[in-house]
Order: sequence, then C-alpha cells, then structure tokens
Amino acid sequence: EQLLAPSGPLVGKHVIVTSGPTHEPIDPVRYIANRSSGKQGHAIARAAAEAGARVTLISGPVDISGPAGVTTVRVESARDMLAAVEKALPADIGIFAAAVADWRVANAGAQKIKKNGGALPELSLTENPDILATIARRNEGRPPLMVGFAAETEHVIEHAKQKLAKKGCDLIVANDVSTETGVMGGDRNTVHLVTAGGVETWPTLSKTDVARKLVERLGKLVEEVAK
Ligand code: CTP
Ligand code: CA
Repeated sequence: EQLLAPSGPLVGKHVIVTSGPTHEPIDPVRYIANRSSGKQGHAIARAAAEAGARVTLISGPVDISGPAGVTTVRVESARDMLAAVEKALPADIGIFAAAVADWRVANAGAQKIKKNGGALPELSLTENPDILATIARRNEGRPPLMVGFAAETEHVIEHAKQKLAKKGCDLIVANDVSTETGVMGGDRNTVHLVTAGGVETWPTLSKTDVARKLVERLGKLVEEVAK
C-alpha cells in the first residue's frame, strides 16, 4: 500500500474541516452546548483524506475519534475553534460543518456558581465570532473554495440562500434538522446544495455517502475556481 502513489481528486490539496458542537463555559463545571454529534463533519474529513487531500479537522467535543490519516485538532469553544482554523491556514478548501454555539456567557464564573437562597444567577450572553464569515471575508489567505452548512428547522432553502450571501461562501449545504428528521445525531441526511447558480437536492443518503458525494463535487469545483 505504501508503494502506491497517492491518488484521487484532491491530491495535493489542503482541506480544513470544522465539525461538532462547541462548548461555551458558564463556570468551570457547566457549559452551553447543542445536539451536534460531529458525524457529518468527521465523515467529510475522512472522505477528503480518502480522495487524497491533506486534511486538518478542527473538532469540538464529540464522542467519536478523528479519522485515520487526518490531523485532528480538538477544541472546546467557538473562539478556540476560530483560532485553530486560522492557525491551520492556508488551505485550498474550507468546509465549515461545525454547529458553532452562537452565544457564549459574557460573565462566566471563575469558580463554580453556588446556589444562593433561591436567588437565580444572571447569565448575560454575548455573540460568538462567525468563523465561516470571518475566514470567507479575509482579503488574504481565504481558501479559494469555502463551504458552509445551514442547519434549519423551517424555510430551509430560503434561509440557506440568505446565508450564502451573508457569509460570503461559495456553497451552502443545507439540511432540515427539525427533531422529526432525526438528522442531529442520526446516520442519514437529506441535503440541498445551494450556490449562486441554483439549488440541487440530493436524495436521502448515509452521512458517509453525503460526504463522498460532496468531496467528489468539491474536487471538480476546486479545479474550476483555480482556472
Ligand atoms: N458558523 C460559524 N461560526 C459561527 C456560526 C456559524 O462558522 N459562529 C458556520 C457554521 O459552521 C455553518 C454556517 O456558519 O457552516 C451556518 O451556521 P448556522 O448556525 O446555520 O448560521 P448562523 O449564521 O449562526 O445563523 P442562525 O443560527 O441564526 O440560523
Ligand atoms: Ca447558528
């Protein structure tokens, strides 16, 4: 096997993938999180490596391990994730599959918050940096192909189109994550590819097959943007 030259549509490319949730501390023992399992992002990292790419996976706290042949960087918070992405640049393709927490606690406690005779702690929230938009809007060092995800519970396509424009990425992979779909934490996914050129809806596939099909498509798109 080692004698075989690397092959596949992404040989010679560096791909950065974000995956999983982020954890935002409330105090040293508590945090804000979400239901992301990291399965889709990890599957994409694996598929990109199988397609010959050098892959850096920036993963929030998940129960699954980093795929073989992938450099995995584990982070906790959104701010840590942004710093890790910036450190991993430059890249040819950025795939932002993480379910980044939108808010963090501005007044996180340095010590465990104690109950206090029925008085409730006042948590004040502040917005996290938008990792995808921050990288996509960079003048220097923007990966030529930037892919975002849009996890929606209603108006999936409409919201995805708005996100494509708002974030400045080239492609949005949109999906319906309402509880009934079982996407969050599940093994299957029904996605829509949204670009400036239009919308393409894929049949329901395993997250592994979504990853392979997406990587195949990105192999073609990355050649087009390089022209
Ligand atoms: N994203 C990011 N950093 C954030 C929030 C989102 O990089 N702080 C990325 C996600 O990884 C995803 C895309 O932006 O690729 C869209 O995330 P989503 O949560 O759907 O969009 P938001 O802009 O946060 O809008 P909202 O949650 O209000 O729908
Ligand atoms: Ca969000």
